[in-house]
Amino acid sequence: MARAPDSSSISFTALYTGQVWVRHGLSEPFFHTRQGALLYRAMSPFEALGKRLLGGNIRTFLLQRHHLIDARLAALIAADPALQVVEIACGLSPRGCRFRERFAAITYVEADLPDMARRKRRLLARQGALGPDHRVEAVNILDPDSAESVTALLRRLDPTRPVVVITEGLINYFSLATLAPFWRRLAEGLRAFPKGIYLCDNYPLYANMRFQRTLKTLGGALGAVSRSQVSFHFRSDAETRAHFTAQGFDALTVHDPADYYAALPIPRTRGTPMVRVLEAKVG
Ligand SMILES: C[S@@+](CC[C@H](N)C(=O)[O-])C[C@H]1O[C@@H](n2cnc3c(N)ncnc32)[C@H](O)[C@@H]1O
Repeated sequence: MARAPDSSSISFTALYTGQVWVRHGLSEPFFHTRQGALLYRAMSPFEALGKRLLGGNIRTFLLQRHHLIDARLAALIAADPALQVVEIACGLSPRGCRFRERFAAITYVEADLPDMARRKRRLLARQGALGPDHRVEAVNILDPDSAESVTALLRRLDPTRPVVVITEGLINYFSLATLAPFWRRLAEGLRAFPKGIYLCDNYPLYANMRFQRTLKTLGGALGAVSRSQVSFHFRSDAETRAHFTAQGFDALTVHDPADYYAALPIPRTRGTPMVRVLEAKVG
């Protein structure tokens, strides 16, 4: 069996996002890390400059996507209280803890590359948060067939209950060609359940988005430090939809944070937001 490619050079970015969730009241103090706090401090002058010049910055987009995914997930749980939630590339996301506290009937599986999964498991174990309905597993989205593949992860769930899979802050680190086999495996795996939904964030390049050159430069810098192929996927909602149906999903909704300004406590961007939340489904 061929070894799956190693993308663990991306993992340190979870320390930054983890600190953003802590600093903006979405997380618990036990998710604070020294490296995350250092990164947060180091990024602050650039974030302030971005806010002033562009009317939005990385933190704005992070908070928009996080709140919006939370809102969609809460709505899906309202429709299916015994939902199984799988958060792939969970990093130091506090969502599992927050949602298990709010919705006792759900099962929440957090998953990430082995090192990050170990770190998260240790953290949650210390809080007494782990059990059969809140666990942490190792997964590599680039792995086609081992016990750490997405297919194997989904097979360990209850096939009689609906499933939502989330990836947040993951897909823009990879090219579409690299992601396609993952999405195909995911769509196929979700068909084993009464309902299968996939939620993710995406940074597209739509014609009405300003500062595209700045965004590409930032993407290039992030790609260099994380040794990954940071890319901006899709030029329109229609292209996004067509791509997901070509990977085996039956339908896709594109959520724009601007449509949720009145309903959610999310920061606003000058102009159209840079991030979208995608909701794909099978069945
Ligand atoms: C930007 S962080 C996002 C973390 C978290 N979702 C958040 O929003 O705070 C990217 C995450 O992707 C994980 N990751 C990178 N490559 C992966 C892969 N091949 N399979 C699964 N997770 C991966 C990293 O370990 C890291 O936790």
